[in-house]
Amino acid sequence: MANIVVLGTQWGDEGKGKVVDMLAENADLVVRFQGGNNAGHTLVVDGEEFISHLIPSGILQGKKCLIGNGVVVDPAVLTEEMEGLRSRGLEISSENFYISRNAHIIMPYHKTIDAARENSLGNNKIGTTGRGIGPCYEDKVSRRGIRFVDLLSGDKGRDKIVQRTKEKNDYLKKIFGVDPLDTDAIITEFNGYAETLAPYITNVSGMISEAAKGGRHVLFEGAQGTYLDIDHGTYPFVTSSNTVAGNACCGSGIGPTEITGVLGIVKAYTTRVGEGPFPTELFDEIGDYMQKQGSEFGATTGRKRRCGWLDMVMLKNAAILNGLTGMAVTKLDVLTGLNQLDVCVGYKYQGKTLTDFPADLGVLAECEPVYETLAGWTNDISNARSLDELPQNAITYLNFIEEAVGVPINIVSVGPGRRETIVNKNLFE
Ligand code: GDP
Ligand code: IMO
Ligand code: MG
Repeated sequence: MANIVVLGTQWGDEGKGKVVDMLAENADLVVRFQGGNNAGHTLVVDGEEFISHLIPSGILQGKKCLIGNGVVVDPAVLTEEMEGLRSRGLEISSENFYISRNAHIIMPYHKTIDAARENSLGNNKIGTTGRGIGPCYEDKVSRRGIRFVDLLSGDKGRDKIVQRTKEKNDYLKKIFGVDPLDTDAIITEFNGYAETLAPYITNVSGMISEAAKGGRHVLFEGAQGTYLDIDHGTYPFVTSSNTVAGNACCGSGIGPTEITGVLGIVKAYTTRVGEGPFPTELFDEIGDYMQKQGSEFGATTGRKRRCGWLDMVMLKNAAILNGLTGMAVTKLDVLTGLNQLDVCVGYKYQGKTLTDFPADLGVLAECEPVYETLAGWTNDISNARSLDELPQNAITYLNFIEEAVGVPINIVSVGPGRRETIVNKNLFE
């Protein structure tokens, strides 16, 4: 039995979807445990691209896919995604797809509040995906949320929706001057979801526990990345959930002793979408090169991703925060053609070198990255399927990462396709 958490070590979009899809071949269950459709995970199989926002990335491998209680789910997006996959010939049924009865629902007013808040912040906006994620988690924590179990409770659930919509309409009008949402239309829409989604609503925690007892392999698919974590990220430029490994337990309803490994996905350089600090960001032609070679556009919002050098200060801290047992380095092929590769090994701040990631964004803004420079390579590496097929300089780059972080590299990804991968260690042996 192996129960492995796969998560992002940077600011999201590290290639989690690709790695989960590839690993899912040998897994039995794939579970999302936090975030919502702010995530966009791209899978490329035989040249065909799939982007999943909510349904776990094990679906293309025909595995059982579960949405845990820690995920916030927009039923409009979920039903569209289910239909989209079906129209491409995939089976989505109550035999392979499950939603936790405790998961919270993103309501129409959450999306309106997200947009209204961002508008009101002007230049100080967070740059959210506008999917209502923050307002939904707020309601969860303040005990005003609507859960999937409410969809199953008939009039009681409907009364809750009516009461909450009224409250939010007052808030939207008074604080932002926004027109009220139509409660009747929301009720009609949600009656529809109650009917379509009822067959999938279940006790996800119990299912995972049964599977683990039966010796099944479970993959926990993280969304976002360590530096978007609500506690450990670059607050307030973060998302509204814990993205670190510990939340795989809370967000799916299993105990920490069930987890057998934590695989951190490390993009071979760094990207960020949305606002917030980014010490190694590049504003020159090298940043443009990464952006173009890596097709760095957000899979959810289509925004251009900001690009920069790899940052060891971040990665070392991510190894601690997540208890990484292994790393998968992705998009190594994107660096092909660069003469020199800078790697940040510390931050210069007021004459001192910091090796600890600062919590104070004011300090972080003043930090100057300290770089070590490694040699690049020019040979196309996208056909490499074992480490010894890589140019020596690429191996040196990987060794540098492994030594600096102190965690073994289990997987190297050299292209978006499922097979464009070097597997250094079988995680399910
Ligand atoms: P996620 O959110 O972590 O799943 O990552 P995204 O899917 O948002 O972004 C990663 C992008 O890089 C996607 O377009 C992937 O198809 C692509 N990708 C993943 N791994 C590789 C790789 O090794 N090389 C290249 N060139 N592209 C990759
Ligand atoms: P995946 O799973 C990259 C960012 C947004 C914004 C901040 C808050 O594909 O890696 P939110 O809508 O969550 O309130 O936005 O978080 N963000 C992501 N950035 N990848 C993601 O997901 C992200 N999900 C949220 O851009 O800066
Ligand atoms: Mg993404």
